[in-house]
Amino acid sequence: MTGVASLAQQVEQAVGTAIGAVLPERRAADPLIRRSDRPGVDVQSNAALSLAGAAHRSPAQLAGRLVEQLATEPGGLSATVSVAGPGFLNVTFTDAALWGQVAARLADDRLGVGTPQAGVRTVVDYPSVNVAKQLHVGHLRSTVIGDALVRVLGFLGAEVIRENHLGDWGTQFGMLIQYLLEHPEAPWQHERLAAGTTAVAALDELYRVARAAFDADPAFAGRARTRVVALQSGDPDTLAVWRQIVAESQHAFQQVFDRLGLLLTEADAAGESRYNDALPGVVDELVRQEIAVPSAGALCVFDPAFTGRDGAPVPLIVRKSDGGFGYAATDLATIRDRVGRLHADRVLYVVDARQALHFRQVFAAARRAGWLPDTVDVEHIAFGTVLGADGRPFRTRDGGTALLTDLLDAAVRSARRVVQAKNPAMPGTEADRIAELCGIAAVKYADLATSRQQDYRFDPDRMVAFTGNTGVYLLYAHTRVAAILRRAADPAKLADAPALDPAVPVSAAERALVLALDGFGAVAAEVGESLEPHRLCGYLYELARAFTAFYESCPVLGSAEPVRTNRLALCDLARRTLAQGLSLLGLPAPDRL
Ligand code: ARG
Repeated sequence: MTGVASLAQQVEQAVGTAIGAVLPERRAADPLIRRSDRPGVDVQSNAALSLAGAAHRSPAQLAGRLVEQLATEPGGLSATVSVAGPGFLNVTFTDAALWGQVAARLADDRLGVGTPQAGVRTVVDYPSVNVAKQLHVGHLRSTVIGDALVRVLGFLGAEVIRENHLGDWGTQFGMLIQYLLEHPEAPWQHERLAAGTTAVAALDELYRVARAAFDADPAFAGRARTRVVALQSGDPDTLAVWRQIVAESQHAFQQVFDRLGLLLTEADAAGESRYNDALPGVVDELVRQEIAVPSAGALCVFDPAFTGRDGAPVPLIVRKSDGGFGYAATDLATIRDRVGRLHADRVLYVVDARQALHFRQVFAAARRAGWLPDTVDVEHIAFGTVLGADGRPFRTRDGGTALLTDLLDAAVRSARRVVQAKNPAMPGTEADRIAELCGIAAVKYADLATSRQQDYRFDPDRMVAFTGNTGVYLLYAHTRVAAILRRAADPAKLADAPALDPAVPVSAAERALVLALDGFGAVAAEVGESLEPHRLCGYLYELARAFTAFYESCPVLGSAEPVRTNRLALCDLARRTLAQGLSLLGLPAPDRL
């Protein structure tokens, strides 16, 4: 489904056709459509400047020819087009065309947004945390960015498969299981763990004490290693304890995911353990194809494309010298499975930028092995680090790893102060509810609004501010529009597409708002391509500002008909566009706060 073409897209199409008619050999040239900042001009095309050479004319002459050609196109643009400066095409849409776009978008549940990703089967690997440890600051970005991408791609029609590639297998489980079996009295045993939020804290503690015992006591370390063998050979008692650890971790993770409002469920778990049986076959196949070769007792893939500082190739170790399979082998088995069994067209790994080399090596090896055809697009959706006030990776005051829940709590506390200051009379429980909603939204938005690759500072007070490019600002912008619509005398009129009067003159602020609203589909599609949610954040912020400017200069409820109906329709579209945009980011859009 292509959706409603925006006015800018209509110009792009029309200028493209005109270029084809005037200059057939350059019919594929980009019409170079840009928003214009000149008063009275909506968009401009810079094509004549770049194509003048090929046309053997001056840019102004070519622009003149394009204007003539545009006038002859059947069903042409509802706009005036003129040549300006050295050869720009200036386009100003008619007021009726602007109202027409508003009506067309309002008439569609999807606001006229198309489904350019229809049928693209897309696996999103996130947040892929390691079990038996608490979620920490390092997991914030993968959960938030991954979830936003799942939402955007799904909205654009992609068949999205969420996979939480849990780190649920490996030699560390030998030590955890052995410790649990040797300390049946320990508080992290199943009955105690089921108590809820403390579950994963207890597992974290288990990890700590088991690790300490492993490092300090060679006899325990030996028993832990034997336990790894038992786990790998499928010993039922060992597997039972392992399952218990994984299940407890998952419940605890899910509580945080739910608090964050993620789409992820426990059913999305596709842990490393799932690929365990496939690993020997994967490695055998790599050896058979002479892609993996012996090196110092291990089996490694060397690729001249990946060299270290000394110029020597960096190995991708698929089987360690002790015979164990590692992270790389598991990721190769996973790719093979996602392509072979899930028939993925696209696989996205939402993982910290520090794993960039790992993914490049894995993707390259999978391509060589024939598991990853060129038709499948795999991408490492890398992201930067969350920093503290000191500009260094975020840590607790005593230098420890900050828990994700502590970060969220800090933001909720900041939001609580803001809510209280704004409305001192609000009952405490209500203020708590709003603070939770705003605090979480603020954290998610601040994360998404920074360009993915960049690091950013975690600053709760700035994140929950009511002004500036914050999630709280956008939530309030939405409530303001909702309040206007609530006060409208006849809200029922909004339900069925209101009859807009196309003859109502459009003011400058209205024009800017309509053009912003008309651009929503293009931005959504763009985020689906670039996988950069900050572009949607920037768009929604500009939209909210355009709405504010409109509302400040254009009375809505107090104006006479037919202006009132048109302006209410504009409010309705603005509210729905903001709500849809927020929902794509995984944020709520409450009508009141
Ligand atoms: N569990 C890994 C870690 O914590 C991240 C896994 C990312 N996904 C993947 N398919 N490798 O570093």
